[in-house]
Amino acid sequence: MHSLASFAALLAAPLAVSASQRASTAACTLTASGGDDGPTFVQAAQECSTVTIPTATTLSISSRMNMTGLANTDIELLGTVEFSNNMTYWINNGFYFDFQTQIAFWLLGGTNVRLYGGGTINGNGQAWYDAFASNDTLLRPILLTVYQATDLSVENINMLNGPEWINFVNEGENILYNGINISAVSTSSNPAKNTDGWDIYRSNNVTIINSTINNGDDCVSLKPNATNIVASYLSCNGSHGISVGSLGQYEGEYDIVENFTSTNVYIANAENGARIKAFAGPGVGSGIVKNVTYSFFTESNVDSPVVIDQCYFTSEANCTAYPSNVYIQDITFTNMSGTSSGNEKNVVASLACSPDGRCENITVNNFNLAPPTSYGNANFTCQNVNLTGNAASLFGDCATT
Ligand SMILES: *[C@@H]1O[C@H](CO)[C@@H](O)[C@H](O)[C@H]1NC(C)=O
Ligand SMILES: *[C@@H]1O[C@H](CO)[C@@H](O)[C@H](O)[C@H]1NC(C)=O
Ligand SMILES: *[C@@H]1O[C@H](CO)[C@@H](O)[C@H](O)[C@H]1NC(C)=O
Ligand SMILES: *[C@@H]1O[C@H](CO)[C@@H](O)[C@H](O)[C@H]1NC(C)=O
Ligand SMILES: *[C@@H]1O[C@H](CO)[C@@H](O)[C@H](O)[C@H]1NC(C)=O
Ligand SMILES: *[C@@H]1O[C@H](CO)[C@@H](O)[C@H](O)[C@H]1NC(C)=O
Ligand SMILES: *[C@@H]1O[C@H](CO)[C@@H](O)[C@H](O)[C@H]1NC(C)=O
Ligand SMILES: *[C@@H]1O[C@H](CO)[C@@H](O)[C@H](O)[C@H]1NC(C)=O
Ligand SMILES: *[C@@H]1O[C@H](CO)[C@@H](O)[C@H](O)[C@H]1NC(C)=O
Ligand SMILES: *[C@@H]1O[C@H](CO)[C@@H](O)[C@H](O)[C@H]1NC(C)=O
Ligand SMILES: *[C@@H]1O[C@H](CO)[C@@H](O)[C@H](O)[C@H]1NC(C)=O
Ligand SMILES: *[C@@H]1O[C@H](CO)[C@@H](O)[C@H](O)[C@H]1NC(C)=O
Repeated sequence: MHSLASFAALLAAPLAVSASQRASTAACTLTASGGDDGPTFVQAAQECSTVTIPTATTLSISSRMNMTGLANTDIELLGTVEFSNNMTYWINNGFYFDFQTQIAFWLLGGTNVRLYGGGTINGNGQAWYDAFASNDTLLRPILLTVYQATDLSVENINMLNGPEWINFVNEGENILYNGINISAVSTSSNPAKNTDGWDIYRSNNVTIINSTINNGDDCVSLKPNATNIVASYLSCNGSHGISVGSLGQYEGEYDIVENFTSTNVYIANAENGARIKAFAGPGVGSGIVKNVTYSFFTESNVDSPVVIDQCYFTSEANCTAYPSNVYIQDITFTNMSGTSSGNEKNVVASLACSPDGRCENITVNNFNLAPPTSYGNANFTCQNVNLTGNAASLFGDCATT
């Protein structure tokens, strides 16, 4: 093991090695410098096979960290990595993504990378939540961005108060998140807005399991081109639920979500439970949502426990004139139970497709959903869809016989 001092000596050696040779066999241990620990942490990740941040150590990060292109690197986070809340710096220097106009604190990528250890990534979000309340165009950094990674895992990590999205998976392949504990909760009257647990974009084979999420937006969201995704054994509180989409937003783009499974999910105090949403109307994009299974959802105080909205952000007239070009096929909702909030009165499930038969092979099984008792019987609504499965009859005319 190397202390920071001997680690500095190690780095003084010439470093003219290629990326594949770069990871040495050294195990390096970092200590806090009292200043910005970002550059040392980045260099350690590039040069050491294992980087340890010990239990009592808090690394203070006040400059952006580009840890892409790593190879065979373990980051053992026992202590804390804490980002400064210098808004001037981050707004001007955060890594910029065109997609939904995002900025990021930290890019992690490469091949065969592991981040684990029970420690904490602290985004110091309170100042951002408060500033966003008076500037709703404020750019706010994503806490952890997995970018251009293959075979990367993040296990047993606490993610605390990210200013905006907590995890962004962009152009990843074979990515695992296991045992993640997310808490993005404001202590003032200004909510922790847009603190999505995960956003998955242009990525294949991403698994999110065994995690707890307390936040103020989607628990997990599948953005364009998310394929072979699992989001299971999750407990989501205060969120917008598990969402596919919204897709088809941008003219000229084709969005794919295919092979998504989400099972054993508890959702409480949320806007949505299991949801698929796609834009319709003039001048939008196109795509397909295919083979999605939501099963064993237990919900409590959720505004809309089960949702398909294929006219997202589109008036009824425009959805009729310009149905969605995002087709929705081979979808199963099974074993959906619990209670809604009453925010949508007695409606507990709403499956609304565009006209013109753009939803196909939608199955509903074993529904046990109820509104709060004061709203009476549960109401299952649907439009422009033929449903199969043992819960189809709850939806009246949409049931296929
Ligand atoms: C991040 O580092 C990689 C090298 O690993 C480099 O190719 C890339 O340009 C850097 N990205 C940014 C945004 O600085
Ligand atoms: C915040 O960042 C700006 C711009 O990078 C810098 O000039 C300023 O010194 C920083 N403020 C603090 C308190 O570090
Ligand atoms: C809001 O924040 C952005 C930086 O993300 C800045 O460019 C803009 O001027 C701010 N708007 C106001 C009204 O302060
Ligand atoms: C998918 O990713 C997991 C890691 O999460 C890996 O173990 C598995 O082999 C990958 N599957 C395929 C088909 O590559
Ligand atoms: C879930 O996380 C706990 C605690 O880290 C661990 O003991 C358990 O094995 C994990 N389950 C799975 C399926 O990985
Ligand atoms: C999604 O993947 C398809 C097929 O590879 C591609 O044509 C399309 O441009 C991709 N869309 C996005 C938003 O990346
Ligand atoms: C649907 O996706 C699941 C994984 O989510 C996969 O196991 C199954 O083979 C897929 N079915 C089809 C017909 O592609
Ligand atoms: C979906 O899963 C099926 C069955 O495993 C597979 O044949 C198909 O290629 C997958 N689709 C995508 C986009 O990966
Ligand atoms: C229909 O879409 C057009 C173009 O986006 C928009 O200008 C118009 O207001 C929409 N009509 C309705 C009734 O929402
Ligand atoms: C309907 O979708 C399910 C997956 O939800 C799939 O297993 C089945 O093969 C599909 N049926 C048809 C007729 O495409
Ligand atoms: C169900 O909800 C729909 C949409 O809000 C409403 O139009 C309908 O009257 C409701 N039906 C019952 C029986 O409550
Ligand atoms: C429902 O099925 C009937 C009979 O096959 C068909 O005529 C109708 O177009 C289908 N409706 C939708 C919305 O797919």
